[in-house]
Amino acid sequence: MDSVEIFRHEAHKMVDWIADYYTGIEKYPVKAAIKPGSVYAMIPDSPPQEPEEMSRIFGDFEKIILPGITHWQSPGFFAYFPSNTSFPSLLAEILSSALGAQCMKWETSPAATELEEAVMNWLKKMTGLPDNFEGVIQDTASTSTLCAILTAREKAAAFRVNDKGAAIFPGMRVYCSSEAHSSVEKAVKISGIGRENLVKIGTDKAFRMVPSLLEEAIRMDLKNGLKPVCVVAAMGTTGSTAVDPLDKIAVICEKYKVWLHVDAAFSGSALILPEYRKMLSGIDKADSFVFNPHKWLFTNFDCSAYFVKDSESLINTFKLVPEYLKSQIPGHVNDFSNWGIQLGRRFRALKLWFVIRSFGIQGLQEKLRNHIAIAQQLKSWIENHKAFEVLAPVEFNLVCFRFHPEGVNDPAGLDRINEQLLLAVNGTGRMYITHTRLNGHYTLRMVTGQTNIGLAHVEKAWNLILEKAFLICKF
Ligand SMILES: Cc1ncc(COP(=O)(O)O)c(C=O)c1O
Repeated sequence: MDSVEIFRHEAHKMVDWIADYYTGIEKYPVKAAIKPGSVYAMIPDSPPQEPEEMSRIFGDFEKIILPGITHWQSPGFFAYFPSNTSFPSLLAEILSSALGAQCMKWETSPAATELEEAVMNWLKKMTGLPDNFEGVIQDTASTSTLCAILTAREKAAAFRVNDKGAAIFPGMRVYCSSEAHSSVEKAVKISGIGRENLVKIGTDKAFRMVPSLLEEAIRMDLKNGLKPVCVVAAMGTTGSTAVDPLDKIAVICEKYKVWLHVDAAFSGSALILPEYRKMLSGIDKADSFVFNPHKWLFTNFDCSAYFVKDSESLINTFKLVPEYLKSQIPGHVNDFSNWGIQLGRRFRALKLWFVIRSFGIQGLQEKLRNHIAIAQQLKSWIENHKAFEVLAPVEFNLVCFRFHPEGVNDPAGLDRINEQLLLAVNGTGRMYITHTRLNGHYTLRMVTGQTNIGLAHVEKAWNLILEKAFLICKF
């Protein structure tokens, strides 16, 4: 493709294809239903020697790749948490690809750095985070949480572990609830702190961390000569979107001088709604906070908004400037590669800027409120059905439930029919849900957070669940 005119022609065709894809997205099976290895088997062992026509390459995209894609942008997608996109975000991603800028330092694309500063400030205002927090875009919440734990480790160890290794500061401890996301465990495991030093704190009936148990664990560790360095509070757990009591946890962290990181990966987007701001009580005492606009703020993956109170400690943890990266910029600028793990950085602020401007705060609020209202409707259908039960409070737009027909009461039997039900509905290709375990029970999770979802999609999905459930066990 060596002429710009051929590119123009192909690009126009591709935009048409994308528009048609979104118009007809419901005709695709939501969850890819192919056998492992079948795509690999269709790709030649060796790359082509001669150039290939774009029409041929694109034909193979449709034939080989598309059937192996799970359609996350389908309104039949209720699985995991969404990884949403939207048209303004898509347009910005096209531009960002076209610019191909690598935005590791201010001078490698000043506009990218300064737009990132500006949109992080917008997000801070939109979500009600404290003024003294500063933001940076990371790739994922997993990375943001790792950054938080590494910074907490360094701050507690007077920045000596980075130089001398973890052996210089033994006995570090990290705390989170038993419902916290696995990214916390992964971060502790790879940070040199060691997985056995992650203390999982028990939760109440609504799956929220119990602060008195946290304080007890910290006190016990101190008594045993251990060093509490970080607490991770969840604002919306993955299993059930439970919100840990931040205000009480924050007081404990302040008392024992422990870094407090808040993982709001999915549910943090709800903070753009004033009615959810009460979750932030205690945030002034937190040290860091993460939420993912790539989950529930209609911005293409990847875009994780990480905020810290003390950016100096973050930078001290990560900064490394070899000769070939030195610059002579007069005055202060941010080189965001010093705010995290990766050196090279994509221009991710552009899509957030497009999304926030194109929807406006009101447009974003309307979408979120609609998703939340739809979840409440689904919850009431489930609650009012004699053969189903809701298994966790519905805080946002995740509904956790199970099929519980009369007469089936043994736990293993209930787990089995619910797994059967999940496989049956997903097998239709018309919807996609996933599961978790709550209180040991196999639990169906249905998230009504996809960008283009409407009540009619959820009603259709609910009817399909009823139809398949009836085939498994008459009610
Ligand atoms: C509460 C929570 N934290 C962290 C993550 C990890 O997010 P990411 O994929 O951005 O690393 C998730 C993913 O769903 C999550 O639900």
